[in-house]
Amino acid sequence: MSVQPAAQRRQTRRRPEGAGAVVRVWVVREDAGVTAADAQAWLSPQERSRAEGLAAKEDRWTFSVSRALQRTLGARYLGVPGDQVEISRACAHCPHGGHGKPHFPAAPGLDYSVSHTQGVIVLAASTGTRVGVDAESGSRAIDPAGLMRLLASEPERRALSFAPEPDERALLRLWARKEAVVKLTGHGLPRVPFTALSVDGPVARLDAPPAGWPHGALHLTDLPLTRGPVAALATHRQRPKVTVTELTRVADLTL
Ligand SMILES: CC(C)(COP(=O)(O)OP(=O)(O)OC[C@H]1O[C@@H](n2cnc3c(N)ncnc32)[C@H](O)[C@@H]1OP(=O)(O)O)[C@@H](O)C(=O)NCCC(=O)NCCS
Repeated sequence: MSVQPAAQRRQTRRRPEGAGAVVRVWVVREDAGVTAADAQAWLSPQERSRAEGLAAKEDRWTFSVSRALQRTLGARYLGVPGDQVEISRACAHCPHGGHGKPHFPAAPGLDYSVSHTQGVIVLAASTGTRVGVDAESGSRAIDPAGLMRLLASEPERRALSFAPEPDERALLRLWARKEAVVKLTGHGLPRVPFTALSVDGPVARLDAPPAGWPHGALHLTDLPLTRGPVAALATHRQRPKVTVTELTRVADLTL
């Protein structure tokens, strides 16, 4: 048996497929000073009038900041003004429009995903992997046992039942991971029963995947937010290099 020197071994060892895909994640918090008014400068005229029509302040903030972040991302990537970025929500899995994963038709190589929860918006984007992101707030009044019944697959229920009582953060983490997966694929909640989807390991496992489900593995990464919600990222490439940036102005999003 011949033994290669370490340096040579490093050169000839195959890189795992997709390892090293970079995923950028941006977090915006209402309590960090980003206002709906700041965000509205980035919106299209239709979005601006929709935002103005929203009665609840928190809905106006969420809508305006989420759309402004998406437009800023598109503008930075495509080099066009934010209000000229076209965002499509056509569904990849059925002929009905409007409920699909948002994407920029002019930038097919850039995949992104957005999540909002109680004054926090998380945006993930990559040119090296498909992405899905989800954030779930720990401050909701939830019934852990009820959530476990609704959410957990059989193997997850077995693993969680070893704990003395269902841990709220652990359940939120499962929830965030599951939503991240169905947001990566664009299927959303109606097409994937959460109790058939297991996300307690490094890759998602789904009984009876629906049409259009990716053939390869979907990898899971928990996002280290400094405070607040539990957040998770799904990627179709393994071991992505993830950077998380907290923004205090939408305009500070740079690539
Ligand atoms: C996608 C979904 C799980 C998000 O749930 P939610 O409670 O709104 O969660 P979040 O706040 O974390 O995410 C909202 C963001 O999800 C994104 N989103 C919406 N539909 C999506 C889809 N199908 N796939 C991926 N992301 C989607 C949007 O960017 C949205 O933010 P925006 O409206 O500000 O752009 C949920 O909206 C859903 O299941 N939608 C139905 C999709 C559907 O009908 N699929 C049928 C396919 S035939």
